[in-house]
Amino acid sequence: TRPYVFITRKLKEELFAPLMEIADVKMWESESEAVPREMLLREAQKATALLTMLSDKVNEELLESAPNLKVVANLAVGYDNIDVKAASDRGVTVCNTPDVLTETTADLTLALMLATARRITESQEFVKEGRWQSWSPYLLAGADVHHKTIGIVGMGKIGQAVARRAMGFGMEILYHNRSRHIEAEQELGAAYRSFEQLLEQSDFVVCLTPLTDATRHLFNDDAFKRMKESAFLINVGRGQVVDEKALIAALHQNEIAGAGLDVFYEEPIGADHPLLHFPQVVTIPHIGSASVETRTMMIKLCQDNIVAVLQGNKAKTIVS
Ligand code: GLV
Ligand code: GLV
Repeated sequence: TRPYVFITRKLKEELFAPLMEIADVKMWESESEAVPREMLLREAQKATALLTMLSDKVNEELLESAPNLKVVANLAVGYDNIDVKAASDRGVTVCNTPDVLTETTADLTLALMLATARRITESQEFVKEGRWQSWSPYLLAGADVHHKTIGIVGMGKIGQAVARRAMGFGMEILYHNRSRHIEAEQELGAAYRSFEQLLEQSDFVVCLTPLTDATRHLFNDDAFKRMKESAFLINVGRGQVVDEKALIAALHQNEIAGAGLDVFYEEPIGADHPLLHFPQVVTIPHIGSASVETRTMMIKLCQDNIVAVLQGNKAKTIVS
């Protein structure tokens, strides 16, 4: 019998010709809404492979009820939505999408940093609301980015791609990471700092670290108190690395100058979310890797991984 693959979002069928040759493929019917939990659990019971979104929880409960499951291909580089240990205990391979999204996500990080510092979204709202009365010297004046200090928390591939871009802006580059990255220090002139030192010295603190038990709430009250009052937090990693209540308090008390956020504690956020009340906060809906080119490559990589496992081969990008 052919393997059964469930894809938890409606994607372009023509991308999946190779997979459809060897497996029965079903997709959740919506492009914009997450698959309901009960349906995901029901499909998992039959599935040999799942192609999942970062919003799908692949936990003990799901794995327990999925006796045929061989591979979970997550359409993201991050995989905190998956209980990797529970999966490997059951012999289920977990794959992510590193590398193909590195440069695209670094582009977005710079875009968000620039937009936040230079008040781009606020400026657009100002024009759209018909409030532009005259050119004025300090109208929507923001903060400079060039020649400032960027502090990158999480110096993986994306962090290094951000650092390369920051070099072009003449920025001083600091980083914090679980382990030193000597290559980045030599090639990018990035200087290692403790987390506390990085917070104290950076004008732009850029968070790219994966979400783990060790990084959850890494940005807490103490972290925001350490940051300069003129500094900005740019988060393109995972929302739960930031204690959102602490961030909101820090913004209220002007302990930091602002924030650019691609990710949130609980996604999606609604129009009544407290972070939307701050003009100095730029919010975008988790679009770090969202270029058409890159999303297509990510989908193809997920498919390649699934095909490899179904054919008894080693997947290309297995998480460990
Ligand atoms: C997106 O957040 C990803 O992890 O790829
Ligand atoms: C992963 O590739 C990262 O840079 O955090």
